[in-house]
Amino acid sequence: MRKKSKLCLTVTEPTIKEAVAVVDRYKKNLDMVELRADYLADDEIGYASAFPRLAGIGEVILTIRREIDGGKFRGGEGDRVNLFNRALKGDFSFVDLESDFFNEPLERKIRDKNIRIIRSLHYFKGLPPDMSSVVNDLAHNGKNIPKLAVYPKSTEDLLKIFLLSKEFKGREKIILGMGDYGISTRILAEYLGNYLTFVSSPGNSAAPGHIDIEKVEKIYRFKELDETTKILGVIGNPIMHTLSPLIHNTGIKAIGVNAVYLPFMVDKPAAFMKLAEEIGITGFSVTVPHKVSIIRFLDSVDDSVKKIGACNTVYKRNGKWFGTNTDADGFIGPIKNLLKRNGNNLKASVIGAGGAAMAVVYALWREGISFLVLNRTVEKAKRLGNQFGGEWAGLDEIGARRMKDFNDLIVQATKVGMEPDENSDPFPMYKFTGNEIVYDLVYKPEVTKFLERARSAGCRTIGGKEMLFEQAKRQFKIFIGRDFPLIDLEL
Ligand code: ATR
Repeated sequence: MRKKSKLCLTVTEPTIKEAVAVVDRYKKNLDMVELRADYLADDEIGYASAFPRLAGIGEVILTIRREIDGGKFRGGEGDRVNLFNRALKGDFSFVDLESDFFNEPLERKIRDKNIRIIRSLHYFKGLPPDMSSVVNDLAHNGKNIPKLAVYPKSTEDLLKIFLLSKEFKGREKIILGMGDYGISTRILAEYLGNYLTFVSSPGNSAAPGHIDIEKVEKIYRFKELDETTKILGVIGNPIMHTLSPLIHNTGIKAIGVNAVYLPFMVDKPAAFMKLAEEIGITGFSVTVPHKVSIIRFLDSVDDSVKKIGACNTVYKRNGKWFGTNTDADGFIGPIKNLLKRNGNNLKASVIGAGGAAMAVVYALWREGISFLVLNRTVEKAKRLGNQFGGEWAGLDEIGARRMKDFNDLIVQATKVGMEPDENSDPFPMYKFTGNEIVYDLVYKPEVTKFLERARSAGCRTIGGKEMLFEQAKRQFKIFIGRDFPLIDLEL
C-alpha cells in the first residue's frame, strides 16, 4: 500500500537560524522540509549541512535551484557541485537534482549515503510534449522519485495533468501544476497519488501557486483527504480572491464530513465539465464570468436559472447535472424579517442592471415588491424593469427624484465601490433621508463609500458579505445535504 502523501514545507529563509525557526513554528503539522539552499545568503549557504540536525525533523530535502528552474542560484555548475558536496555532510534524506544535472561522483555519493534522488523538471512554458516519457525518464526505472512541475495555462491542461497521474497510478511520483490553474493538484496530492505536496510559510511563496501551510491545514484539511473525499469547488476567472472555499470548507470541517471545496480557475466551462466527470466532482459554485455560459452544459435548470438567466450552483443527481441559482434566496436572507414585517408594501430601488441586479430584481418580483431599476445605461434598466414588471430610470437627476418614491429599500448591485475602486459612489446625486434601508452587494470593502454615506445619514445598512454567506449556505445544503452549521465565521 502506498504511503499517504506527505506535507513538505519549502523553507526559503536567508539564514539557517531563521529557517530552523520557521520549521519549529510548523513542526507539528509537517512530514518533511525542503531546504531551498539557493535562498540562503552567501555567507550562510556553506552551513547548509547543519540544517537537518538543527531542524530536528525526520526527512529533509536538499535543493539548490538555479534561476532557470525558478530558483535563486546564480553560480556555475562547478560551484553547485561543491555546495552539494559540502551540504551532504549533513543528514539529508533527499536531494533534488534537475533532469539535466549529471555528475556521476556526486550521484554515487548520494546513493552510498542512502539518500533518495528527486529528479525534477520545472516547465514554465505550459505542458512539455510527451509528458509520460518525461516522467518515465525522471523516474529512471524507479531509482528516483520523479518530480514534474508544469504550468497549466488552461483547464484542458489541468485535465491532462490528472490524466497523466492516472497513467502513473500506484507509482512513486510528484506531478503538479504550478500557478492558479494548478491549485487543485497541490491540494489533491493524495487523490493524484503524489509522494508529497509542497507548501510555504504564510507570505513566503517559493513557487507560483504554492499554498501556505496554514491554509492547507486549516482550510483544506490536507491530512484528512483521501481517494474517497467528495470533491466540490468553485469555477471562475479570476478565482483566487474568492471567499467561497473559506466558507464551504469551514462548514465541512465543523460537521466533519469527508469533502473538500477547491478553487478552480476555468477558461472554458466545456473543459471543466470533462474534468468534473474525470475526477468525480459532484457539485460546484459558478462565478464570474461563467454564470451564463455554464448553462448549456447542464441537463436541466430550475426556474430561478431560467428567470435570472444565470446559474451559480451546479450539482449532480443520478448521473445528471442540474443548475440552480441561490443568489436570489441569498439576497432575500438578510432582509427576511424586514419583508415579514412589511409584507409587499415595501418599495425598492435597484442600482445596476447586470448579472447581480438581475438576481435581485427576480427576488423582488417573486416577493411581490414593486421596484425601480436605475442604471448608467438606461436601455438596460428599461429592459430589466420591463422584464419583471418594474419601473426604470437612469442614474441622473430624474432618477434621483424618482428614487424618492422607491426608497424603503435601496440595493446597490453594481461593482462601483469595490476594491480597488473604493472611493467611487455609484449615485452621489441621491441624498439619503436617513429612513432608507441600504443594501450594498459589494463585500470588499465591507463598508463601501455608498454605505458610509447612507450610515452618516442615519440609514440602516446591510453589507455584501451577508448575501455572500447566505447564498453559500444554500449551496452547502445542496452539495453536502446538511444545513450549514451554526458557527461564527470571520470572513
Ligand atoms: P455583475 O454581473 O457583477 O452585475 P455586470 O453584468 O458587468 O456585472 O454589470 C455591471 C453593472 O455595474 C452594470 O449595471 C453597469 O452599468 P452599465 O450597464 O451602464 O455598464 C454597472 N456599472 C459598472 N461601472 C459603473 C460605473 N462606473 N457607474 C455606474 N454603473 C456602473
